[in-house]
Amino acid sequence: MRTSSVVTLMFILSGSACSQTPQPEASKAARQPTRPGLYQCEGCEAATERSPDELDWQADLPPTGEPGERLVLAGRVLMPDGETPAPGVVLYLHQTNAEGLYRSILTTSGGGRGDGIIEGWLVTDAAGRYEITTIKPAPYPRGGMPAHVHVYVKEPERRPYYLDDFVFESDQYLTPAYRADQELRGGSGIIQLTRDSDGVWRGHRDVVLEW
Ligand SMILES: [Fe+2]
Repeated sequence: MRTSSVVTLMFILSGSACSQTPQPEASKAARQPTRPGLYQCEGCEAATERSPDELDWQADLPPTGEPGERLVLAGRVLMPDGETPAPGVVLYLHQTNAEGLYRSILTTSGGGRGDGIIEGWLVTDAAGRYEITTIKPAPYPRGGMPAHVHVYVKEPERRPYYLDDFVFESDQYLTPAYRADQELRGGSGIIQLTRDSDGVWRGHRDVVLEW
């Protein structure tokens, strides 16, 4: 066989081998359009008030001595494919106290945020994990809405947005109408709590980031 024929044959074989090379696995979830109005959010800027560098994947929300039943919420933050861990994602959370009141309402002299408010920031670790230690919030005294923990997310290189609140099964205000109204941002925020032998309420939620 002439040299040029050998080269041609090698080229053909090489091309054939290439065509059989496994291709990268197609994304398990085709990219979806970003939810309309995702970034329209009052208060979302709070999620940018802390740098990931100064945060841990665990956060303690209430000031020392805040009365209430202890509550631990934990899980992972996942990429929009619902499987890949999302590290370096900041979560900002705030909530009412055990009487259903925000500190800014309790105070009479412009207390606002920061002074005794039940809030906190964390950043997910390499496995996408987060853990929040807090107290069990109560529904607003006026009723009409389940007890909830507000949660906002700040992904690297992206504007912040809010997720569905954490709310808890068996809450008297968790009505069919409330359930139907949920946007499912980050997936469902309806949590089943269990109480451990130390009296600590525990709930699990895996957050799936928005496209
Ligand atoms: Fe609220």
